[in-house]
Amino acid sequence: MEALKGVKILDMTHVQSGPTCTQLLAWFGADVVKVERPGVGDATRGQLRDVPDADSLYFTMLNSNKRSITLNPKKPEGSKIFTKLIQECDVMVENFAPGALDRMGFSWEKIQEINPRMIYASVKGFGPGKYEDCKVYENVAQCAGGSASTTGMLGEVPLVTGAQIGDSGTGLHLALGIVTALFHREKSGKGQRVSAAMQDGVLNLCRVKLRDQQRLSRGPLKEYSQFGEDIPFGDSTPRAGNDSGGGQPGRILKCKGWEKDPNAYTYFITQAAVWEKVCDVIGKPEWKEDENYSTPAKRLPRLNEIFDTIESWTMTKTKFEVMDICNPLDIPVGPILSLKELAEDQGLRDTNTIVEVDHPERGKYLTVGNPIKLSDSPAKVERSPLLGEHTDEILKEFCQMSDDEIKAVREAGAV
Ligand code: COA
Repeated sequence: MEALKGVKILDMTHVQSGPTCTQLLAWFGADVVKVERPGVGDATRGQLRDVPDADSLYFTMLNSNKRSITLNPKKPEGSKIFTKLIQECDVMVENFAPGALDRMGFSWEKIQEINPRMIYASVKGFGPGKYEDCKVYENVAQCAGGSASTTGMLGEVPLVTGAQIGDSGTGLHLALGIVTALFHREKSGKGQRVSAAMQDGVLNLCRVKLRDQQRLSRGPLKEYSQFGEDIPFGDSTPRAGNDSGGGQPGRILKCKGWEKDPNAYTYFITQAAVWEKVCDVIGKPEWKEDENYSTPAKRLPRLNEIFDTIESWTMTKTKFEVMDICNPLDIPVGPILSLKELAEDQGLRDTNTIVEVDHPERGKYLTVGNPIKLSDSPAKVERSPLLGEHTDEILKEFCQMSDDEIKAVREAGAV
């Protein structure tokens, strides 16, 4: 059975962060009713379009398993319908710019009055304070949350990452807050506000970098490459290139074919527990007894030399051969997989992590399914809704409206 069956979500989200959250809840079985502006809809429907006049992949890949109603709560007729939807639903999720819901006439106080059991969840760029009124997009959050300052090569510009840690990452945080509040409501009978700020979400994901910031005050970060290169540390956690973020040194190394294939690389971790096996595999058995290499501490200043030597071995193998040789020896390695390789990966398709969906306007497309697997509640990934596809159905089901009443609110431009 679907884990969140019967939970009704009033989904006021748009773009990426909020939709990621409600899509997850929909995969877990919640009934997600996406409210969109009449005639316009979520702006991403029309952004980065690859098929003329069809909802973009940006939209379709973030809004699976939802129903869509068009509704303008700013119109008096729309406000009435919206009030009824608040009464009927368990959770309301939004990621508008700060204050937008209040300007629609629906403050948190008002929402609580309408439905004291309502859980009201928001994503904003920043938490309370100096920047609380700012509009924020993904890369702004990556920069303001500590990720950019610690990503990239030493001495070069800060970098943003491809993983959407600000948007999808915060959506994930928000989803956890919502199910926690639902769990709490079981006992208290009351709803509550759930807030996740993108800056806070990114910082949470950069936790280990704040760890290093504090370690820095007690001495150099010996596992960073710059330590072995005698480059002095400044007063903040530096960009560490592809150094491993933990206590086990690791690097990205070239593999066979790197000259032509931009992804012919592997990540290679010299985990202390398997150091002797690493020495054997790369043809350096003498390092096992050599006191310059035999302990992790002794190896730290020599990481560049060590990884150069390992790379001369990985360059003789493809990234998959490296995986096949190292895996049975418990040496942690990982091929750099391109999105093309991932899209074609049969294993990911078998587990419904990559799913092919059929859409009436655009035909078949690939999406990423639910990465969280529940043994008794598998997620079935369904296509995203067309704009207002379920308006009539939802007005009848949630507001008990007749066809004539629906016609009237439509003529008034409220839906
Ligand atoms: N009917 C009528 N009006 C609607 C509506 C509907 N169904 N849905 C939205 N609107 C209105 C809002 O009320 C708002 O109007 P107002 O500003 O006059 O009050 C307006 O549409 C636009 O909302 P806004 O959120 O300001 O959109 P934007 O495109 O200007 O900004 C963001 C987009 C993402 C920058 C902004 O929403 C934001 O900062 N969100 C919080 C952080 C976030 O989630 N960022 C990541 C997004 S992936």
